[in-house]
Amino acid sequence: MHSLRNCYKNLKSKYLVKKDYSLSHQVNFQKHKDLPIHRWLKYREGYSVKLVQNTINELGIKGAVFDPFLGSGTTTYASALLGLKSYGIEINPFPAFVSEVKTRKYENYFINNFEKLLPKILRNNQPVKKPELRIIDKAFNKNVLKSLLVIKANIDKIKKPKEKKLAFFIWLSIIEEVSNTFKEGNGIKYKGKFGHKRPPRKDSSSYKEYQKKLKKCQDNDGWESKDVNKTYQRRFYQVLEDLHSVDYSSLVEPEVIIGNAKNLKKHLIDSSQDFPGISLTIFSPPYANCFDYYEIFKLELWLGGFINSYDDFKKHRRESMVSNLNANLNDIFYENGSLNILLDNINIKKLWDKRIIDMLKGYFRDMSTTLNELWQVTNNMGYVVIVVANSSYGDVIIPTDLLLAEIGENIGFKVIKIVEARSTNSSSQQMKRYKALNLDTSLLRESVVYLQKL
Ligand SMILES: C[S@@+](CC[C@H](N)C(=O)[O-])C[C@H]1O[C@@H](n2cnc3c(N)ncnc32)[C@H](O)[C@@H]1O
Repeated sequence: MHSLRNCYKNLKSKYLVKKDYSLSHQVNFQKHKDLPIHRWLKYREGYSVKLVQNTINELGIKGAVFDPFLGSGTTTYASALLGLKSYGIEINPFPAFVSEVKTRKYENYFINNFEKLLPKILRNNQPVKKPELRIIDKAFNKNVLKSLLVIKANIDKIKKPKEKKLAFFIWLSIIEEVSNTFKEGNGIKYKGKFGHKRPPRKDSSSYKEYQKKLKKCQDNDGWESKDVNKTYQRRFYQVLEDLHSVDYSSLVEPEVIIGNAKNLKKHLIDSSQDFPGISLTIFSPPYANCFDYYEIFKLELWLGGFINSYDDFKKHRRESMVSNLNANLNDIFYENGSLNILLDNINIKKLWDKRIIDMLKGYFRDMSTTLNELWQVTNNMGYVVIVVANSSYGDVIIPTDLLLAEIGENIGFKVIKIVEARSTNSSSQQMKRYKALNLDTSLLRESVVYLQKL
């Protein structure tokens, strides 16, 4: 315990953390989920366009912007609209595809021609083969799945790549809505019958409507019959409306690379002949919280044909950054003084899985590799801005923000500032326990770490 307190004390004395809760809405997706383009697909782990554009303006960035953990493409989208060259790397092919489609230039003549495709996309046809995903028949009712696979067959026939990609994207974006599942916590859960996440309470205003739906239900297997064609059509027109609303005049199309952040230097150099070096890298890595991005997108990955077998699925998961227990936890060796003290103090009996220790070591090993590579591609005076939340395991709070600042500093970056964007207190029971153990619960937070290469 003594060593743990000293470790916190040492890290806290090295880096002053300022609070700025006006950033709290910018570091998460909630506020921009209804904005044009972003409303097409709810990527809950993303941050906002405002965060990226404010950072670009505040730091006076004129050169290239980069995100090694691109997710749904917020960084590249925000930079592209400001007319800046941008690059993104993403290991998971589904969000990588989403990022690419969101950041292409769609001129009026394209949008008008695209609109004419709708009847072809929705016409009757033989469905494509259903994927081998084990839960497929539970995740969709029969008619829904058939309609989805018919639309997919029609999309496969579209010849022009840009039109095909946009039509396919729209199809991917309705999968959750028409399925019997919803994304929550660390994976997908099943909706109650008739589409409700949870049946409404008897005294609530929506209960009557719920009962009506129950009576109307025609489907043999009891799920609400969802009209896939109507859902596709609705999203199709929403996409057209949004595309019309974007000012594409200064947009510079970003480079979206499917790849591993651990090899970012090679990916960037290979991506363009005249790679200019990076002026700002802004990103949010997976957090050390056991969240698995392959699990949460498994319907889209399998139905979309990004993954075709369980071996493939396993391989993908093992290649991604170590931040959950499905990643490759073999042969993890990483030495870091502060981290070693934190890990030594974890109460193993309190862990729900002992492999969490290796997961944490692997997490900081991978972040250290990524920061090292970032050092090599960052121009002099360039910045690296990291949005990250701290976590806690076995009665020990892992101050990821301070540890990343320390790792960055050891590589050569200067820590410009660390800003707490919001506090992430755990359950009241957990908080009581932390207080009894005299742990500093102010470390439970989401922060933005600013590094500079001087
Ligand atoms: C927190 S999300 C990024 C969200 C993004 N800032 C946005 O606004 O959409 C982290 C992303 O890192 C990706 N990822 C995980 N391991 C990776 C790796 N080794 N290389 C590149 N991307 C990786 C995940 O698939 C996930 O999409």
